Amino acid sequence: MRFAWIPPICRGCSDMKTSSSRSSWSSRWAFILVTIGSSVGLGNIWKFPYMTGSHGGSAFVLVYLLCVLLISWPLMMAEILIGRRGRGNPVSAMRSTARECGASSLWVLVGWAGALGALLILSFYGVVAGWIVDYLFKAFSGVRIETVQDAKQSFDALMNDPRQLILWQTLFMVFTVSVVARGVVSGIELANKIMMPGLFIILLCLVFWGALAGDMSAAAHFLFDIRFEAITPKVVLAAVGHAFFSLSIGMGAIMTYGSYLGKESNIATTSVWVAVSDTLIGLLAGLAIFSLTFRHGLAPAEGPGLILQTLPLAFSHMPGGGLFAALFFLLVSFAAWTSAISLLEPFVAWLVENRGVRRSLAAWGTGLAVWLLGMCVCLSFNVWSDFSLFGHTLFDALDGVTSRLLMPLSGIAIGVYVGWVMERKSVEDEMRLGSGAFSAWFAMLRYLAPVGIAFVFIHALNG
Ligand code: PFF
Repeated sequence: MRFAWIPPICRGCSDMKTSSSRSSWSSRWAFILVTIGSSVGLGNIWKFPYMTGSHGGSAFVLVYLLCVLLISWPLMMAEILIGRRGRGNPVSAMRSTARECGASSLWVLVGWAGALGALLILSFYGVVAGWIVDYLFKAFSGVRIETVQDAKQSFDALMNDPRQLILWQTLFMVFTVSVVARGVVSGIELANKIMMPGLFIILLCLVFWGALAGDMSAAAHFLFDIRFEAITPKVVLAAVGHAFFSLSIGMGAIMTYGSYLGKESNIATTSVWVAVSDTLIGLLAGLAIFSLTFRHGLAPAEGPGLILQTLPLAFSHMPGGGLFAALFFLLVSFAAWTSAISLLEPFVAWLVENRGVRRSLAAWGTGLAVWLLGMCVCLSFNVWSDFSLFGHTLFDALDGVTSRLLMPLSGIAIGVYVGWVMERKSVEDEMRLGSGAFSAWFAMLRYLAPVGIAFVFIHALNG
């Protein structure tokens, strides 16, 4: 285990008892890899293509790219900064940085919203990942989906079979928890070091295959032809929300990972790698998926079923389709797994650091609670289909509370906190940027991010 740098502000803080023995990533590259692992997930490969498909293609892509550049990326730097300065899980990091600048202890609520919100996301994220694992097994066992009816039936059969849903969700959660239980370096870092290169290689194979066997030029037109008239408020709302989800902003994951980052690493350059890789991977996955979709004359606006119903159909009609279907679902499973790990870690880190719970117990205990909630989600598709929360299904309610409420509110709070509440001197010390670059980033954080998110948030509430 490596020993981390201890900031002066932590000495003597009662909730940071264990800060002197905290782990840290083995290098800056390890941090970049695990943070890409957190941000590249179902959001890139499942959600981004279907959101693009159902929100006008290039219009959505353009607004999404602007949101990443102007809002999510500046906020990602702010999250890393708080985590590293506070050297702790989101709750401790908010508490100790607030103490350092004499701010209200209520700021700790931002840390709580992150750590608990991440668990809520994980409860339904694990269920969707379970669908992917089911399709992975089907692909490996040679199940072929020949017609549109087959595709629909196969998906409906899964959704109506709570035992299957629970089985796959359980398997996925067990894999996730066992990594987190092993610790920061020998669990999280090692898993990412194995899975992320695998993910890049599979993705490149799929894009190459899409270029050979699919209609890449139709896909490129769909994603990149600029059509300003298609940019509507609905598209903007969807794009902002997705720019948060995709870069894992506001849920404590990046803050926790940032807390294991060495003092010597430059936050700005490090985070550029993450933001650019996350965006490129989303775009490459989109190119591969739409080139197959268009090649077979299938609908790009299929919605959440795009990769589960449309793609298997395309795969089954192509040479080598069986192999590539298996590779594709392996890619999505890896992506989901490395993101799920980052959703579990913030709360586990809190239990370990602030409550002195053994890591393995903390991971399995938290995993059990999340698994139980996920099981309710599985049952809500069928057995408890009458159940509704303020008129929403459990799945939609969990998704809505996290991505439409907690994420934007945390985003505003983080922008305001680093931009207005923390001492500018400590922020400058952490960022080590030239004065021009610092002022530009600081202005985005102080004005653009809070005002932009608040604007979108209010629209979303009215809508
Ligand atoms: N960024 C992940 C994805 O695109 O699937 C989801 C996610 C992970 C959101 C971690 C939030 C988070 F804290």
